[in-house]
Amino acid sequence: MNTKLATKSLRLFLLPAAAFLLVAFFPFTSSAQTRTSAYDGAGKYTGPGSCASTSCHGSITPRTENDVLQNEYSTWIVKDKHAQSYKALTGNIGERMAGILGLGKAETAPRCLTCHALNPPPAERSRTFDVSEGVSCESCHGPASGWLGPHTERDWTHQKSVELGMVDERSLTKRTEKCLSCHLGSDEKYVDHEMIAAGHPDLFFELDSFSAVMPRHWKEPGEPGAAGQSDPWYDVRELTTGQAVQLRESMLRLASRSKEKTWPEYSEMQCYACHHSLTPPEQSWRQARGYGDRRPGDPPWNASRYAVFRDVVHQLDGEDAGQLDNQISQLTKLMSQLNPDRDAVASAATNSAQLADALVAKINAAAYDPASTLRLLQKISADAEDISGQGEQSAAQAAMAIQSLFVAYDRDAKLQNSAELRAAISALFQQLENPSAYDPARFARQMQQVNALLR
Ligand code: HEC
Ligand code: HEC
Ligand code: HEC
Ligand code: HEC
Repeated sequence: MNTKLATKSLRLFLLPAAAFLLVAFFPFTSSAQTRTSAYDGAGKYTGPGSCASTSCHGSITPRTENDVLQNEYSTWIVKDKHAQSYKALTGNIGERMAGILGLGKAETAPRCLTCHALNPPPAERSRTFDVSEGVSCESCHGPASGWLGPHTERDWTHQKSVELGMVDERSLTKRTEKCLSCHLGSDEKYVDHEMIAAGHPDLFFELDSFSAVMPRHWKEPGEPGAAGQSDPWYDVRELTTGQAVQLRESMLRLASRSKEKTWPEYSEMQCYACHHSLTPPEQSWRQARGYGDRRPGDPPWNASRYAVFRDVVHQLDGEDAGQLDNQISQLTKLMSQLNPDRDAVASAATNSAQLADALVAKINAAAYDPASTLRLLQKISADAEDISGQGEQSAAQAAMAIQSLFVAYDRDAKLQNSAELRAAISALFQQLENPSAYDPARFARQMQQVNALLR
């Protein structure tokens, strides 16, 4: 019990620090087919007020007579940043951003509201509610009009709600898709380099870390009173499944961006290839390291959504891993040229999305245990050179993944050198605090230190 609390607070401490740093400099944009539309479910939206009653989800303290906590509304309104997401639009940075982009007021711009509020068209609303409530229950759980009444009945099931338009958030695949609709973006809702240059944080994501920070308003399988089967390695599954879905969605986004007017889209590249300060040649790690296959000076592609997943796939499924490696190295080569061939990119990205899609279900269904978790932790930390060489965004994915896996592993194994490992992992995040000064050799050494402590 204590271990769990301590480990969670480790994450709470670490991720916001990392997120804060990355916020100033992370990338993202649009893509994906129809699936990521926010308003594609059956039914109409009723607004968060419909869930707020103390006998529903607005209890002050968690209840125990049910498999849901019933204080979800209180958690969301008091602690969850999503409830504040409209305020991000009315702040100085948000307003200036909208001004630069010629959108008028950010808080009335559909282009901003689409991710910062529940803002369906009038025909899809069954009650009046206000965009100022931010990202609320139905932004994630889907329109409630179909199931709002019946889902309080005795003997009602989650499955019945899903049939009536509730998003199946219990499915890690569906959940990740939903998160990524805003945290990666799609065709309809996007953050591109133009928005980033106007002040928007770059978008990045890792399901397990972000779920831990959210804060959770649900019980995980296996927690007392939770629905469903116990799953002691749920955090690991969140990490691996989240990575698989993230790769697929980012490939779809890239394929669709390759057809857009702005090309190349800079937010697909490694930010700090362009945004670092210059040093005398003697001190340039870039020149010392060389440029590999890339023509010196061409901005490299940001492969952070594959950098860590690659190790996951190699551990779980050697055969698929080889194929995916081929596709992604082809894509990396194409995308790391000055003016990437759009058709070739579209086709390599679409192929990679298909390969990733085939892996999603497999990876979600895989069995995880202490041994496989430790192997994964060792594999990723041993991949120090390769991951850190792919830039600070890949390094950030590695730091989050290592932290997630460590927390899960240590909860079970109660490592004797737990404190040392924590400090070593913490040092990874510290290196990301000033991303313009990111140094791959230094980051690799720190990953190797983590690796050494795992023996
Ligand atoms: C291919 C080079 C390139 C890449 C890659 C790139 N940018 Fe930029 N970025 C630029 C240029 C050029 C400007 C415009 C600078 C100016 O107007 O002085 C710019 C402007 C910006 C600005 C506004 C400038 C400021 O000082 O506030 C931010 C913030 C920014 N980029 C962040 C990012 C992030 C985050 C990424 C990765 C997601 C990224 N950039 C990727 C070239 C790049
Ligand atoms: C694709 C979805 C998406 C769109 C579109 C979008 N945002 Fe965001 N925005 C996000 C996400 C996700 C974050 C949080 C990023 C993080 O912390 O990882 C964010 C963060 C921000 C922040 C920083 C908030 C903070 O607490 O530091 C501001 C300001 C902001 N957005 C303003 C805007 C404005 C203005 C627009 C319209 C021009 C806009 N956003 C459009 C998804 C989006
Ligand atoms: C940012 C996305 C997001 C928002 C906003 C959100 N939720 Fe959730 N919610 C989730 C996720 C993810 C789960 C986990 C699903 C699971 O395992 O049950 C969840 C679980 C739940 C559960 C447990 C359901 C179950 O299947 O066991 C309830 C009840 C719930 N949320 C109610 C609410 C209410 C009420 C609000 C608004 C006050 C809200 N949620 C806002 C994402 C969200
Ligand atoms: C409808 C769009 C939307 C969806 C869906 C969504 N988010 Fe967010 N999320 C946002 C926005 C916008 C912010 C920024 C809020 C702010 O800082 O004001 C944010 C912020 C966050 C933060 C805080 C990040 C930080 O820097 O502190 C976490 C963690 C997070 N989201 C996790 C999730 C998870 C996990 C899911 C899926 C279960 C999810 N989100 C689904 C829009 C969304």
